Amino acid sequence: MKQEFNKYGKEDFTVWKTLFERQKVNLQDKACDEYMLALERMKPVLHPNAPPNFEEINQWFQQSSGWEIQCVPGLIPVENFFELLADKKFCSSTWLRTMGQLDYLEEPDMFHDVFGHVPLLSDPIFSEFAHEFGKLGCTVLNTPERVVMLQRLYWFTIEFGLIQQNGLKIYGAGIASSFGEANSSISGEIPTVPFDIEEVMQTAFRTDVMQSHYVVIDSFEQLFESILSVTKKWNQPKTII
Ligand SMILES: [Fe+2]
Repeated sequence: MKQEFNKYGKEDFTVWKTLFERQKVNLQDKACDEYMLALERMKPVLHPNAPPNFEEINQWFQQSSGWEIQCVPGLIPVENFFELLADKKFCSSTWLRTMGQLDYLEEPDMFHDVFGHVPLLSDPIFSEFAHEFGKLGCTVLNTPERVVMLQRLYWFTIEFGLIQQNGLKIYGAGIASSFGEANSSISGEIPTVPFDIEEVMQTAFRTDVMQSHYVVIDSFEQLFESILSVTKKWNQPKTII
């Protein structure tokens, strides 16, 4: 499946520009330094003037962390998702919400996938975390309990993670791409808990309601080291989950 860039019409350009400009301003002093820096770094290929062109972004990544955007029709089986991440391919949809749906989404669109997820893939440490996550995922496909544990880890970090950085800051894509949640997540009104990978992997989540709590990391190094420790633990023979 390929992105058909020429099919984006006037409304797509307007929606992309509106969302991009509004959210970039909204995220000032709310998103973590690494995210804001990544957004700046990717400016040549990620800007408000046109929807993202995946070919251009992929070329840009060749000189950076080596990731590639892979077009997917929607939700894909988890085994494919892990395999793609292990191959440094990040899934993105190609459709964009309409002007009437700026703040309402039933499933992730290209703004969520690209504006939310892609910038941090250019961060050296976060990028390696995502890669290690995918590689670990490929090793647990025959152990459904561990697949679920990794899905929880993904949810509470890559999707909805917060980081302690002169106060609470955003790095999860679900928050970074949402106007409302970027404000509510760090308002102090919703409980937060410090990151503990074992605890996170035991915590169920719901996709149909607002988050009941957020998980806060100290640094991306902490995230990266935690996935390495789980990899080491699970790769030992005869370990108990
Ligand atoms: Fe996402």
